[in-house]
Formats: sequence, structure tokens, C-alpha cells
Amino acid sequence: MNEFKKNVLIIFAHPALQKSRVNSKLIKYVNDMQGVTFHDLYEIYPDFHINVAKEQAQLLKHDIIVFHHPLFWFSVPALLKEWMDLVLEHMWAYGRKGSALKGKKLLSVITTGGRESLFSEKAYNRHPVKEFLYPVAQTAYICGMDYLPPFVVHGTHTITQEMIAAHGEDYKEIITALRDDTIDLEKAAEMPRLNSDMNDVLKGRKL
Ligand SMILES: Cc1cc2nc3c(=O)[nH]c(=O)nc-3n(C[C@H](O)[C@H](O)[C@H](O)COP(=O)(O)O)c2cc1C
Repeated sequence: MNEFKKNVLIIFAHPALQKSRVNSKLIKYVNDMQGVTFHDLYEIYPDFHINVAKEQAQLLKHDIIVFHHPLFWFSVPALLKEWMDLVLEHMWAYGRKGSALKGKKLLSVITTGGRESLFSEKAYNRHPVKEFLYPVAQTAYICGMDYLPPFVVHGTHTITQEMIAAHGEDYKEIITALRDDTIDLEKAAEMPRLNSDMNDVLKGRKL
């Protein structure tokens, strides 16, 4: 397909991108990268009529799958859930004869209105942010995929433009490292968030 080690597919889901403060900027760092397919679900399927065969064919062509979305009611936006319900079919993605996605990697890239300090056992949201992604992690597991720690941008209502830009640069670096296979996945697996300490997970990163 191309000269890169891995093919990356970013499945992006935001129902009101025209009102977005953060995701509209984050996507600009990755949506025209070489070796990366950027797939905007709400743009392609505004009526929720998902072309399952096309989506499955596209998944087969990629090694790294990214679910990029704002956290909505501690979950994925409705169209991404519909996509999961329809595309990840029995006997295709899972089940006795379902191994189409086996060995691929899945990464969640999420933004939350809540600040980082709100996501812990003793705080307002009562759980670390990773725990709200257990349904996605378990879906990956059932499909034989390797689920990476999430890339998280917290506090979307209050973070500054400079912080958004810094997260955008980090996002691009992570996608580049996944595409070029220069990410330390063992170190990454120990992290609460893939972007908790970028220097630790990016092999040979220049400081
Ligand atoms: C319907 C809805 C549900 C939301 N649920 C949550 C939530 O469960 N936790 C949270 O921290 N933020 C929640 N938010 C805030 C969004 O995550 C936040 O608006 C989004 O990340 C901002 O990204 P944007 O600037 O790209 O729109 C919710 C927002 C909406 C509209």
C-alpha cells in the first residue's frame, strides 16, 4: 500500500465539528499525514447508514486502528457505537471463524471536558479515565486486537490554545511512531495514558 512500516487508520467521530474547540484543531495535525487514512464518520455517514462491507475492507488494509472522539457520557459518540455494532460482525471480527482483526492494534484518542484531577477513585468521576474505556478495551480483546493505553486530552473547555497545539504535536508524534514502528509498546503498556510521558514511549525521541 505504501512505504511505511504500518498503515494507520484514524476513525474520527465528532457530531458537531463546527462547534469544536479542541478536536477541530487536533485533527489538523494528523489528517493529511502520509501513510495515515483519516476517516471522518459523521462527515461520511450523517444519516448513520454505514456501509459495512466498505468499512470492513478498509480495516483489513490497516495495521493500526485509532478511535478518535470526544468522551460523551463516559463513552463513545453514538455513530461510533453504531459503527462498532455493525462493522465488528460475528464470524468476521470475533467468534469461531472471526479473526479479521487479529493482531491489529487499537488506540483510543479522546478529549474530555473534565479536568485530569476529576478522574480518580477519590475524585468527582470516581474512576481513572482508562476505566471508562473498558468496553472498547474488551471489544479489542474479543477481536484479538492489542489495545494500547489511551491518548487523552483533558479539560477541553479551559485549556489554552498553546496547550491544544502542544497536544496536537504530541498526537502527530505518536501517530508517526505507530506508523514507523518506533514506539516502545512494552513501556507504553505500563502507562495510564500514552501521552503521560512521551519521552518514555518514543524510541530515540530528541528532547
Ligand atoms: C453529550 C455530551 C456528553 C459529554 N460527556 C462527557 C463526559 O462524560 N465526561 C467528560 O469529561 N466530558 C463530557 N463532555 C464534554 C466533551 O467531552 C467535550 O465537550 C469535548 O471533549 C470537547 O471537544 P471539542 O472542543 O472538540 O468539541 C460531554 C459533552 C457532550 C456534548
